[in-house]
Amino acid sequence: MIPIAPQDRVFILTGAGMSAESGLPTFRGTNGIWRTYRVEQVASPIAWARDPKLVWQFYSERRRRHHTVQPNPGHYALARLEEELGDRFFLCTQNVDRLHEMAGSRRVTHMHGKIFQSRCERDCERPPFDDDWMLENGAEIPLCACGGKIRPHICWFGETPFGMERIAAALEDCMVFLAVGTSGVVEPAASFVRYARARRGYVRTYYVGAEEPLNRAFFDEVLLGPSGELLPRLFALQAPRMNADERG
Ligand code: APR
Ligand code: ZN
Repeated sequence: MIPIAPQDRVFILTGAGMSAESGLPTFRGTNGIWRTYRVEQVASPIAWARDPKLVWQFYSERRRRHHTVQPNPGHYALARLEEELGDRFFLCTQNVDRLHEMAGSRRVTHMHGKIFQSRCERDCERPPFDDDWMLENGAEIPLCACGGKIRPHICWFGETPFGMERIAAALEDCMVFLAVGTSGVVEPAASFVRYARARRGYVRTYYVGAEEPLNRAFFDEVLLGPSGELLPRLFALQAPRMNADERG
């Protein structure tokens, strides 16, 4: 169990393992995404410059898949915890799916972007927008009014993740850090636990996942198992201590 005291601020980082029980493949597992596609082919600015249609084929296949999945009990458990903790709760996900939101989470920082958002490839004034366009054979990639091609609003390798300022502030503040279903190999997310531990004060760090992550040394406790099974019975919220006159 993870005890959460009334004043504890909780930082939760989720990775692909969080959505595995919903039927979405992870990246580095046995049938992981990077076993079928190479990162440099489909998830980097160079890949986009070299073959934008192949990039859109990759993300179109993922959009198609994402339309068919539902949250698992792990997503609902985090949405319930958010209800209980309010602004003491911070959820940062590396996942681009919308399963946290579908389970009721409201405060979600998607540091790697969102699968159902696109944006212009140029830095024109058009902001990212909701989009579930998919490349059908023969189709042309849509263009922005400025003439730039429309690209997935995903943080590719070599690009800067989104929301880093508020993530850093939440890491500074937290007293409980939990990572769920992430192999701990991709930066900067893999170092969040280290940042949390390095700041002043004391923070308790936990990992929940199917196998030990690469950054295992930074966790006080590692709880091995599927997040959909472990998360629903993991949190023990402690009631505020009553002082003498309140006890009556
Ligand atoms: N419950 C919990 N954890 C699980 C489950 C499960 N049911 N199934 C698998 N896992 C664990 C695996 O043991 C693995 O440690 O989830 C982790 C998934 O690791 P990765 O596939 O590397 O995914 P992730 O860590 O999220 O990747 C980080 O890399 O390619 C980029 O942008 C991509 O956001 C992604 C980033
Ligand atoms: Zn544009």
